Amino acid sequence: MFKEKFKEGIISAKQFNREDIEYLLKKGKEMIKTANPNLLKGKILATLFFEPSTRTRLSFESAMYRLGGSVIGFQSGEVSSIKKGESLADTIRTVENYSDCIVIRHNMEGAAKMASRFAKIPIINAGSGSKEHPTQALLDLLTIKEECGTLDGLSIGIMGDLKYGRTVHSLSILLSNFEVNLYFISPKVLALTNREREFLVQQQVKFKEIQGYRDILNVLDVLYMTRIQKERFVDLEEYEKVKSFYIFKKEDLDDTKGNFVLMHPLPRITEISPEVDNSQKAIYFKQTLYGLYLREAILAELLAD
Ligand code: NCD
Repeated sequence: MFKEKFKEGIISAKQFNREDIEYLLKKGKEMIKTANPNLLKGKILATLFFEPSTRTRLSFESAMYRLGGSVIGFQSGEVSSIKKGESLADTIRTVENYSDCIVIRHNMEGAAKMASRFAKIPIINAGSGSKEHPTQALLDLLTIKEECGTLDGLSIGIMGDLKYGRTVHSLSILLSNFEVNLYFISPKVLALTNREREFLVQQQVKFKEIQGYRDILNVLDVLYMTRIQKERFVDLEEYEKVKSFYIFKKEDLDDTKGNFVLMHPLPRITEISPEVDNSQKAIYFKQTLYGLYLREAILAELLAD
């Protein structure tokens, strides 16, 4: 049972096996047609965002309201006792008394895991440092499944900031449960870290690491682009050197297969030029809608009686 297995919450993509993913994607798909507006009546979700967010926070909040529940919380920049120096542990031990589930985003690696040690209610990791963003990866898989019809047999390019991009890390972990060919495309300084590389080797995932994308555009079913994560660079001069390394242009689409799709977790800065947005192959805004359905499914699974 999903609820039993995930009773402490969703902390890492590594908690999921193929069966869990397929189950949740099925539930996410059901939400597209019907979401019971009374399912979570009387339940309260707390969203604690210590880092900026648009899609993750608002889709969780919208999902909760659409299922009849309510939301409390705060976001970075707002006033809470964090500003007075309160520890994360104390915040969690307080907020759990006011809610049934906590969604947390934090710049510290392992923040969600630590929160789950102090809480008796489920914790959902909405991004912790540069390492994990499991619900984004789950919605990415729902998007691929619905738009490409399958998760097996696909050639998927993952491009941009592979070093600091937490969506990339969680996505590669989830994809390792399927028969995929992965192409990791990045400037050398933003290549996968050893930790991720070793995991892929150990899982026997077929993957290549390259710097240019044009030569492989015609073999890809999916290209997943990411933002260069400015806020995680120690040296801003390094960021300046790589910030415009890739700019996907309309002409690039000419080399892609008929059923090719271009994805991005967003926010996009300059890595996809706006003229690409009108193409049917650009599905990053659809992806944000799948995020709502997937998060409805997660909340329903964790919180419904
Ligand atoms: C991502 C994040 O916060 O890690 N955004 C998201 O949740 N959709 C990607 C990013 O910030 O580049």
